[in-house]
Amino acid sequence: MMIADTKDLFNIAISAAGNSYSPYSEFRVGAALLTADGRIFTGCNIENASYSMTMCAERTAIFKAVSDGYTDFSAIAVAGSSTNDFSMPCVPCGACLQALTEFCADDFIIVLADGEHKFSDFLPNKFGRDALDEKGTI
Ligand code: THU
Repeated sequence: MMIADTKDLFNIAISAAGNSYSPYSEFRVGAALLTADGRIFTGCNIENASYSMTMCAERTAIFKAVSDGYTDFSAIAVAGSSTNDFSMPCVPCGACLQALTEFCADDFIIVLADGEHKFSDFLPNKFGRDALDEKGTI
């Protein structure tokens, strides 16, 4: 991915954080998920008075994309902040990394405030579909 594309994707994630519904944490998160054919699905975190029902921005984006028929992804940008300063990296939580595991290869790119990261750097060992084939997960 070109650097300009990376920055664009991150800026789209910041814009998506504008729709964050986070009255409890007041931590706004936005995600921008890039499909292999160049489409972008956005997501934001959506909190709930029953706290554990909260949905992260990344999974909102993934589920929007999959429910629209897209399952082939090349990158996701994530921006999170409790202020208007999105310059600190907001690392995807474990649940979102697991959700990404279903659809994303090791070379899938995670774009944060500090630049590009490889998915496999965040989750080197995964529980994926291969585990169900009794091939082992590591
Ligand atoms: N959050 C996300 O949306 N994505 C992450 O990867 C980390 C956490 C949200 C959940 C909750 O609404 C708020 O950030 C504080 O945890």
